[in-house]
Amino acid sequence: MPPIKGLFGDRISRELFLTGIIVGYGGIAGVVVGVPLVAYLLTPLFKPSPRLWRDVGAVSQFKIGTTTEVRYSDPSALRWAGTTSRAGAWLRRDSQSGFTAYSIYCTHLGCPVHWIQSTGLFLCPCHGSAFYSTGAVAAGPAELPLVKLPVRVRGGRVQIQTKPIPVIG
Ligand code: FES
Repeated sequence: MPPIKGLFGDRISRELFLTGIIVGYGGIAGVVVGVPLVAYLLTPLFKPSPRLWRDVGAVSQFKIGTTTEVRYSDPSALRWAGTTSRAGAWLRRDSQSGFTAYSIYCTHLGCPVHWIQSTGLFLCPCHGSAFYSTGAVAAGPAELPLVKLPVRVRGGRVQIQTKPIPVIG
């Protein structure tokens, strides 16, 4: 095939010229489609997490002295979060009207902790962190206490306020 005169005076083949055009248009199309897509996917990660009150059940369903796992929908969940949009907490009924709630997520890497009544500890199955019933760290690698969540009672229902969970790596 006859060579074509290039932009800088070089002589290039027709195949190389067409390849350059295809690669150039492909790159432009990639940017036009990719930038909005990446922005759409990443934007929720930088939005502040809203703090909302979530209903977790009637006061009467929690016995005084017990610690119960409760679930609620996470207001900061990404649209594609699926079942992970269900957040959790450990709710302890301390008295007739007193409740204490801790986020269920370990402050090490976010695994859900389990309340072990017989030991009075929250244990994390992932890397072995343990937390006292006050949420304080009993054993690492977690360095931060469990996140305490505000609790209130409204109309005979227990509500927990959502809160972002600090996690350290
Ligand atoms: S996530 Fe709990 S100890 Fe690592």
